[in-house]
Amino acid sequence: MDSILVTGGKPLRGEIAIAGAKNAALTLMPATLLSDEPLTLTNTPRLSDIKTMTALLQSLGAEVSALADGKVMAMSSHGLNSTRADYEIVRKMRASNLVLGPLLAREGHAIVSLPGGCAIGARPMDIHIAAFEAMGATIDLKDGYLHATTQGGLKGGVVKLRFASVGATENVLMAATLAKGTTIIENAAREPEIVDLATCLRAMGAQIEGDGTSRIEIQGVDRLHGATHPVVTDRIELGTYMLAPVIAGGEVECLGGKLSLVESFVEKLTEAGITVEETDRGLKVRCDGGRPKAVNVTTEPFPGFPTDLQAQMMAMLCFADGTSVLEEKIFENRFMHAPELIRMGAKIDVHGGTATVHGVDKMKGAPVMATDLRASVSLILAGLAAEGETQVNRVYHLDRGYEHVEEKLGAVGAQIERIKGQ
Ligand code: UD1
Repeated sequence: MDSILVTGGKPLRGEIAIAGAKNAALTLMPATLLSDEPLTLTNTPRLSDIKTMTALLQSLGAEVSALADGKVMAMSSHGLNSTRADYEIVRKMRASNLVLGPLLAREGHAIVSLPGGCAIGARPMDIHIAAFEAMGATIDLKDGYLHATTQGGLKGGVVKLRFASVGATENVLMAATLAKGTTIIENAAREPEIVDLATCLRAMGAQIEGDGTSRIEIQGVDRLHGATHPVVTDRIELGTYMLAPVIAGGEVECLGGKLSLVESFVEKLTEAGITVEETDRGLKVRCDGGRPKAVNVTTEPFPGFPTDLQAQMMAMLCFADGTSVLEEKIFENRFMHAPELIRMGAKIDVHGGTATVHGVDKMKGAPVMATDLRASVSLILAGLAAEGETQVNRVYHLDRGYEHVEEKLGAVGAQIERIKGQ
């Protein structure tokens, strides 16, 4: 398994191009199942999760080709010949459950493996199940698989989510485009990736209003057609690289970044004394060498502070002047990076969903273990400022969500390299 070796202490200067959003691409790709005609995505990130979704769609009979060095995905579900999402693929990536809605909408039935728990929490599917039941589906659990059937297809109705789940909102949004009648999603998630999905579905002929608010209304249509759609900028990759110069010192412009994607995050950076400037090319972050101020952060659904930036924010707060309190409200077990940061000299107390971070002015490099995607990159960020070498092991998690991290950080002056595993 590969590892990443970072030698700390190099200030960063330059530009980093932010890729298309992993989490948007992972819901846009299954949207191809809704139509017989081709769907082409541009600005797709080159990540192992995209390869997993490609394999899943191909296992259902879809054609998927990566073009332009993986930045364009050309897909067609003309030859769809299966409605079964197998455990062997679903267990690798929870987002595989996003084929359930499109398959149910198009074929009236689907068999999708339950994803199982993952490192950051149990991550059940009850919200998805209740939503499809409200649209007339019957769902049984057999041998670890959800067997979903309908009598003559899905029907519109009022779908009230007990929590604004991103995946459930996406699944229902896709399914409702082909359901009979009008579907209203109440307490819908408002993430930019949902707006991006709705924009793509509209380009395919869907009738959707209210995306980006907590009430989405979808008028079902008989069929969707082909489209070409650019994937929205990855706000999590954006926030991650915005933190790099805060931790290492220097100035970095994140190309393609927009304030509207990361407002609550930028509010916290501003509170910590960091200057963020929106330019016509992206977001520029400058740190003149002083320590950031401690700030308290609570993760919440969008537009609140994203849970997917919590680990990276903790890496920054390890170096802050003062004590910060981080509250994780989305996932029950998302502080596994804390013990690794402690191995590098951080002072962190974790009690349940709350981490108290006492800022230190110095950390020391150490061999550390990546436990999940965002945890991996938080260790790399900490390594940028730690004294000596930090070796982040098990970086296969990282490759699920960050394309060429060593090249992007290396290009702005970080001393970072990938060590190939066996
Ligand atoms: C998506 C993102 C993930 C992000 C998360 C929260 C993708 C591919 N992944 O994941 O990166 O961290 O949103 O912003 O877009 N829950 C239930 N029952 C359900 C569904 C969810 O209890 O049926 C719980 C989850 O266990 C979790 C919380 O709700 O505690 C949020 O989950 P959800 O918003 O569904 O996240 P995902 O769509 O899985």
